[in-house]
Amino acid sequence: MTSLDYKNEILRLKKEKGAVILGHYYQIDEIQSISDYVGDSLALAQEAQRTDAPIIVFCGVHFMAETAKILNPSRKVLLPELAASCSLAESCNGADLRQFKAEHPDHIVVSYVNCSAEVKAESDLICTSGNAEKLINALPQDQKIIFAPDKNLGGYINRQTGRNMLLWNGVCTVHDALESESILKLKAENPDAPVVAHPECNSAVLAVSEFVGSTKAMLTYIKNSDKKRFIVATEAGILYEMKRDNPDKEFITVPGGCEDGTCCSCAECSYMKMNTMEKLYKCLRDETPEITMSADMIERAAKPIVRMLEMSRQLGIIK
Ligand code: 13P
Ligand code: SF4
Repeated sequence: MTSLDYKNEILRLKKEKGAVILGHYYQIDEIQSISDYVGDSLALAQEAQRTDAPIIVFCGVHFMAETAKILNPSRKVLLPELAASCSLAESCNGADLRQFKAEHPDHIVVSYVNCSAEVKAESDLICTSGNAEKLINALPQDQKIIFAPDKNLGGYINRQTGRNMLLWNGVCTVHDALESESILKLKAENPDAPVVAHPECNSAVLAVSEFVGSTKAMLTYIKNSDKKRFIVATEAGILYEMKRDNPDKEFITVPGGCEDGTCCSCAECSYMKMNTMEKLYKCLRDETPEITMSADMIERAAKPIVRMLEMSRQLGIIK
């Protein structure tokens, strides 16, 4: 089948089955263009909670589809590629976090949404890159906190809030590989272009960035800015929405780190790119792979996510 055939078949099956397609900004362009809703982790979690579609096809990575299932357990949640993981989610498991908690019994656990359901079930509060700073600021100043699993996001929040959270030693391998030296070189060549960066980047990169925020926050910053050119320090998939939203603006990408030394200069998340139009088509056609979890796991993992959504509403971060 050609890519147009896949597109037509996906649209036909979606209508026939009353399914909704949720897509993250890091998905391939074709998938973003066909999604009913494209967003960051926080917006996609909200959308998963409010949809009444019987089938949610989640075009993102596994922890995001799991979050959709946890928030809307009566729906069938499908993920085109079940192996679409995340280096952050893989860096921390429930048993190790339980052990760490036992070593620090006076701490609560705030976990970044990029973690497995079993890690969420061990957490007191979940956050996303879009709400982390405000949620942490809303907790009592003397509250001791373990922050898992992203040490870069946690370190950034520590610096922003003046906290001293204990950080789990996980990183996003895509963002952590971006180097401040490359950015400084680009800045010297393009002095008119501010740097926008995701907080999963390392501290040296964040230190030389003009704006730090979630995928959605970066898009909003660029949309509202009167600058015409931007240096973008995040996963390359976001360029699709950046260009679509700002046809008159120019984007300069920061070359990604390359594991084998033959750098193609892309900063791409191999997990996000596992979903393809063919897999999306087959997933809708066969209604598999499906995300399944025990009722007990759903109940335990839901608590800190629901708390995040409630706090985010109270703080005016979301509606
Ligand atoms: P956002 O919450 O900003 O969409 O980020 C998710 C993610 O996986 C970033 O690497
Ligand atoms: Fe995980 Fe990084 Fe990929 Fe986001 S970009 S899904 S944090 S590996």
